[in-house]
Amino acid sequence: MGMETKSAGSAPWALEKLPPFSPVAMRLVALLSDEDVHVDQVSRFIAAEPVFAARILQLANSPLFALMRQVTSIPQAVIVVGLERVKAIALTRALGDYVAPVLRRKALAACWRNTLAGAIAAELIAPSCGQDPGIAYTAGLLRDIGRLALLVKYPEAYSNAIEIAREGADLRETERSLFDLDHCQAGQWIVSRMFLPEEICRSVVHHHDRQIPDDWDLVRLVRTADRLADSLGFAIVPATHLPPAQEILEEIPGAGRRATLDPAALAAEIDRRIAALN
Ligand SMILES: [Fe+2]
Repeated sequence: MGMETKSAGSAPWALEKLPPFSPVAMRLVALLSDEDVHVDQVSRFIAAEPVFAARILQLANSPLFALMRQVTSIPQAVIVVGLERVKAIALTRALGDYVAPVLRRKALAACWRNTLAGAIAAELIAPSCGQDPGIAYTAGLLRDIGRLALLVKYPEAYSNAIEIAREGADLRETERSLFDLDHCQAGQWIVSRMFLPEEICRSVVHHHDRQIPDDWDLVRLVRTADRLADSLGFAIVPATHLPPAQEILEEIPGAGRRATLDPAALAAEIDRRIAALN
């Protein structure tokens, strides 16, 4: 597994001078990655960031939590929403801001939509996989961070890569021939510089592997979510080689018995959640 080594040296040429992620959002992610972080610290940070504050309050008061009383304070809202979800919101915002400048290109907007669809799919199937939905969402959202970096830095070239893939080429192979690395390798380099749990880094690197070790449950979940998103109509390039969503869902032990894992319902929910983000 040559890709496993962390290179401390200089960046691969394609990743030199990447545009930076939103420093505010990344500081929040780092803060939330500390297991001993206290709600007060997080609340103070959020209170100083009006956009986050508004979003967290809005969510705490949404039908999702169905509270009797209105939530008006940030600390209260953070408790209602939960730290894992606050982190997910921060990351979604950080990545959304990062890709925003290139979203006018339709092919690249499809990449962002695919990223979100995979993240939401991961969250939705997490309970059936015995996994935490918040961690699953984060892992899903970050799985293609290497692709997001490449398309932000090289919008023209990446649009061309998608065009080539539309004609039947494998997108990762095209990435390798254009940039000397694919989005998993690019992602590995990027996440090795962030404050993230090992299993999330692993899912960035290995979510397209055919063979996944038995105890890498999160990686397997992310791989399933990634294929599911493609199969449910959120693929970057229309997928012709993928099995139907129902078949992918059956890879999850016991999934057949769960009404929540109906493909049509999943697709509708993913659609609704993406629309709510815009
Ligand atoms: Fe990927």
